[in-house]
Amino acid sequence: MSNTKILITGGAGFIGSFLTERLVELGFEVIVVDNLSSGDISRLSSIIDRIRFVKDDVKSPRFPEVFRDVNTVFHLAANPEVRISITEPQVHFNENVLATFNILELSRKYGVKNVVYASSSTVYGDAKVMPTPEDYPIQPISVYGAAKAAGEIMCATYARLYGINCVALRYANIVGPRLRHGVIHDLLIKLKKDPSTLEVLGDGSQEKSYLYITDTINATVMAWQHALESNGGVYIYNVGNLDTITVKEIVNLVIKASGFNPRITYRPATPDGRGWPGDVKRMWLSIDKIMREVGWKPMMSSREAIDLTAKALVEELGVHA
Ligand SMILES: NC(=O)c1ccc[n+]([C@@H]2O[C@H](COP(=O)([O-])OP(=O)(O)OC[C@H]3O[C@@H](n4cnc5c(N)ncnc54)[C@H](O)[C@@H]3O)[C@@H](O)[C@H]2O)c1
Repeated sequence: MSNTKILITGGAGFIGSFLTERLVELGFEVIVVDNLSSGDISRLSSIIDRIRFVKDDVKSPRFPEVFRDVNTVFHLAANPEVRISITEPQVHFNENVLATFNILELSRKYGVKNVVYASSSTVYGDAKVMPTPEDYPIQPISVYGAAKAAGEIMCATYARLYGINCVALRYANIVGPRLRHGVIHDLLIKLKKDPSTLEVLGDGSQEKSYLYITDTINATVMAWQHALESNGGVYIYNVGNLDTITVKEIVNLVIKASGFNPRITYRPATPDGRGWPGDVKRMWLSIDKIMREVGWKPMMSSREAIDLTAKALVEELGVHA
């Protein structure tokens, strides 16, 4: 396996950089394709001389030949900001649907055997069953979620039609060092600007699962390895935690990590207290399937994941009392 060639799109991003490091450590030959729109090449500094980095945009790839002899594509490139899909739906269509189609087409043309696709819990929308299993209906309430669902369906279709193994991982909220979007980052940036007040999006009762980055990378690599032996297999897994945490609890942990004592105000965007229209109020994925079939389980709770991340980002962003 160690001479296996792997291509990671979005490898200079938050999740992608940790995945790249792990696969290099495991001895794989890794090519990273990233347009550096939200990515930062300094995230790859510890391994930059051991990978091939190609600056390219997967919406209109200029270097398709990088797919030659690749065994597996981990497709993570996307704009992960759910919020902007409300005002700029075209961005998410292009970044998820068009880009994923391009990746699948290049995989077909160059005979790539496996595609691992970064999907999202947002495909379920406002699920009524908690924890939500993979066979629950797909009913997204954001264009981001719809675009992720479309990418998954396309990936599974390429599996059935062309014999590519498709692993679609429906990630919960992933957190850890190097994160530059989402609630913890937003709160810390606000505190950096004005430590005396803190405006929180939503009424604070939003409740979701958070997963630490090392748990996420373990799940991603283990799910991929589980699928390797098959031919045209479709593997859809929730990748989340055994518990949830509310936004109010997150706010407390972030404030504690920063050392500030701001006046907190909550700003609900909808009558039922969401952070923005299209924000899922409650998310808790069932992870029974990946635990049973793949043998993975999270090592850290949602609270521990938030706490560690808040402490790391306080240092990285320089947000100190
Ligand atoms: N972080 C989470 O909580 C979370 C949850 C569910 C799903 N996901 C998905 O996981 C993936 C990675 O998320 P992340 O949190 O690491 O985000 P990120 O923004 O840190 O990383 C995305 C990377 O993709 C690159 N990129 C974006 N558009 C590109 C394009 N057109 N061509 C080439 N490169 C491009 C960016 O420069 C960046 O390096 C995304 O697909 C995201 O939707 C993330």
